[in-house]
Amino acid sequence: MSSLANKRILLGVSGSIAAYKSAELVRRLKDAGAVVQVVMTEAAQAFVTPFTLQTLSERPVHTALMDANAEATMGHIEQARWADLIVIAPASANFIARLAQGQASDLLSAIALASEAPLAVAPAMNRQMWASAATQANVATLMERGAKLLGPASGEQACGEVGAGRMLEADEIVAHCAEYFETGLLAGRHVLITAGPTQEDIDPVRYISNRSSGKMGFALAAAAVEAGARVTLVSGPVALVTPDRVARIDVRSAAEMLAAVQENLAEQEIVIAAAAVADYRPLQVATQKIKKQAGSAQLSLEQTADILSTITAESDARFVVGFAAETEQLEANARVKLEKKSLDMIAANGVGGERGGFERDENALLLLWQGGGVELPMAPKEKLARQLIERIAERFNAKNSTEDS
Ligand SMILES: Cc1cc2nc3c(=O)[nH]c(=O)nc-3n(C[C@H](O)[C@H](O)[C@H](O)COP(=O)(O)O)c2cc1C
Repeated sequence: MSSLANKRILLGVSGSIAAYKSAELVRRLKDAGAVVQVVMTEAAQAFVTPFTLQTLSERPVHTALMDANAEATMGHIEQARWADLIVIAPASANFIARLAQGQASDLLSAIALASEAPLAVAPAMNRQMWASAATQANVATLMERGAKLLGPASGEQACGEVGAGRMLEADEIVAHCAEYFETGLLAGRHVLITAGPTQEDIDPVRYISNRSSGKMGFALAAAAVEAGARVTLVSGPVALVTPDRVARIDVRSAAEMLAAVQENLAEQEIVIAAAAVADYRPLQVATQKIKKQAGSAQLSLEQTADILSTITAESDARFVVGFAAETEQLEANARVKLEKKSLDMIAANGVGGERGGFERDENALLLLWQGGGVELPMAPKEKLARQLIERIAERFNAKNSTEDS
């Protein structure tokens, strides 16, 4: 499949004749799986219509900073937070100057200034404008601040001159965008991830389960692949598409999940247990459907095997990450689980009420390890998963280097 699956790309289009190429760029980004939000400067709209880019991106194009409707729905700060990557293509000389000066005089420059997302700039202008000392100084400033310069290419220009200043082709820009997400942080590492709920049968038609959607585990699998890992995903029953390049094993019950984990454990260097595994299952599974009877019914439960403890008991060389979904005393309860189950890291999230957690597309996590911890604030699960994989890679490398020395 694609290299930008589910990545949120904010495509800024400024007033260059190359703006017509943005239409092609939107299509290529979408083909690569990205969600594309187009933001245009006023001048850009003279070269290509918002309607064209809206149709291709399948999202309303944003153009105005002082837009009462936009501020009530997705204002410039929300858009700045939303983006995984901001790409300005084409970037006019004027817009590059605004970026370099830190101006927030229009919607696009305000978003760029307010965002923590990486910034990629694809200049497109006449060769003299590109070569000018002012533009070169502005570009140097942007690169010093960490922006990535995409191009420009050399060749025949719209003004009839020949030289450097042409915008890169859409495919080249897409390839550069993909590089942002291929971190290589876990290159070649074997990672096993569990995800989703389990189902514990009561009788042939009923079971006990929970509200886990599996979204976090699947997002982690995708993020681990991007980081270069070889990922095995053991999943309970969920309605999710398997991320690209992930080996998926479907299971139903806690016992099946344990068996699948054990079968695949030997080569794993990192295990991330994001599944919401049932703690209890019916003591007996009725072979026939249980009939309705007068009065109340009793269900006797027994504990399921503890998958996490089984993994940590087998070897302590492996890096094991657990999840704790808590409705109260998040940090205290998660610290207890970290110790009790000898985990290397625990990701705790508050569930229930207005908080993130199950069934939602967003979540916030509190990551804890021996002697440390960090909060990952509310964000889309894909973004959170990438942050979590970064932290896991960091702690995994720290553990390996102390064991090697
Ligand atoms: C026909 C025409 C073509 C232009 N092409 C470019 C261009 O390729 N690159 C550029 O930097 N400016 C170009 N400009 C000038 C910009 O449109 C102008 O500087 C504008 O103010 C940029 O606004 P913006 O940066 O807010 O989008 C062109 C202007 C015209 C009239």
